[in-house]
Amino acid sequence: MAQSEERSRPPGPRGHRLTGNTRAYEADRIGFLRRSHREYGDVFSYDAHTLFVIDPDLAHEALLRTGDTFVTELAPFDMERDTGRAAQHAASWMPERRSAWPGLNRTAAATTDEPTLTILDAVLADGAGQEVDVLATMRTLTARTIAEYCFGADHAGVPELLQETVRATQPFAEVSREFPAWLPLPRHRRYFRTYRRLTATLTALVRERSASPSGRSRDDLLGFLLAGEPAPSVDTMVSTLHSVLMGGHGVPAAALTSIVWELARRPRLVRDLRDEADGARDGATPLAEAVVRETLRLYPPAWLMTRTAAAATTLGAWSLSPGDDVLLNPYLIHRDPRWWPRPDEFDPTRWLTGQAAPGRAYLPFGAGPRVCLGAALTLRQLTLITSWLARGFTVESPNAASVTLEFVDRLAPAHLRARFLPVERASRHDDRIDIPLQ
Ligand code: HEM
Repeated sequence: MAQSEERSRPPGPRGHRLTGNTRAYEADRIGFLRRSHREYGDVFSYDAHTLFVIDPDLAHEALLRTGDTFVTELAPFDMERDTGRAAQHAASWMPERRSAWPGLNRTAAATTDEPTLTILDAVLADGAGQEVDVLATMRTLTARTIAEYCFGADHAGVPELLQETVRATQPFAEVSREFPAWLPLPRHRRYFRTYRRLTATLTALVRERSASPSGRSRDDLLGFLLAGEPAPSVDTMVSTLHSVLMGGHGVPAAALTSIVWELARRPRLVRDLRDEADGARDGATPLAEAVVRETLRLYPPAWLMTRTAAAATTLGAWSLSPGDDVLLNPYLIHRDPRWWPRPDEFDPTRWLTGQAAPGRAYLPFGAGPRVCLGAALTLRQLTLITSWLARGFTVESPNAASVTLEFVDRLAPAHLRARFLPVERASRHDDRIDIPLQ
């Protein structure tokens, strides 16, 4: 077979003559993808410039080739689909990423246990045992924890701005169609206004701390960045902090909401987690960690990742033109019976058997050069929070049995509500859980 015939576009649903697949996709995103996967296989075309990939090896290949032939998601409003600008941005981000990493690794993550639990208790105490929207509550929690991680106690205003930024970006996640940035739509104005406010606040915090003689010795991410030799420029620090704050807020909040969903439906699991936490003399909580890993398998908050071809290239048997999008789907990969027995079943014990999980078919944190920078930190925090929630609270939800997953932006159970009722203990604070460093 000639080369040109071997490398072609994969088949896919043709959709409506004028609107293509947009309507069917918007109406039921995951239903559309499941049907297309069944009918056309692991790689299928959505339109002339977009492929969906449900094959773990090809998904990994695209992730590993990021920065080489692929760039990450283009900025919102990039109507020109300027992959050159995206590649430039990536080139300047990679050194920033390297300099931030030691401030986010396992050892650094271990310093966050105490503040995380203090904030968790405070946020749940604010709810006073009343019924709350779980996602909103978890966003409050993660906004405060990540702000404290970056700035210690000096984070005045940052959590609220993060919340506002997530609200301002929400409308873009809900529609497939984008409009040019210069169009004076209310959602564009709100987005840019919020972005400017967040940047101005971060710049002021960085400047203030740079000017303080003790600024670099502080035990937070900004202190760590300032202590770099040489210290990065103010703009570089602001951009790094911006990425960490945004990455460390909405996504873990979605994961926590899914964890609460499971806890609310599984009293037996809660009892087992309680027993584990109560008896955790060496500090290890493998069941809590398994709950986190299993939740990220069944409900990966980043359920869809985008890569854009920066040049004409191929992926497996398929050809791509510059500007083509490849959409990688951890959700379907994580629920594929070829890689996971009983794929739709929530079973944390699958992580406790000692058998290796099919690593290539598990990518809640992505892979390759742009793998999640906060993976170690967040695994530790989510494990701690899961254990602490099970141990210290009874979670009652009026709608856990009826809510469904929402596949817009970050995957999470939609509109889950719950009450967090403290379990009476003599002194929960004297008895905190220590997770050993691995
Ligand atoms: C459940 C929790 C989390 C999940 C599932 C998660 C998932 C991900 C995924 C899938 C990516 C890669 C996206 C892509 O390749 O397109 C990513 C990137 C990133 N994450 Fe996370 N994340 C979590 C928590 C965090 C936290 C707590 C932080 C900050 C401390 C963080 C910071 C980042 C940053 C800065 C990036 C961008 C890395 C880059 O582009 O070089 N994430 N995350």
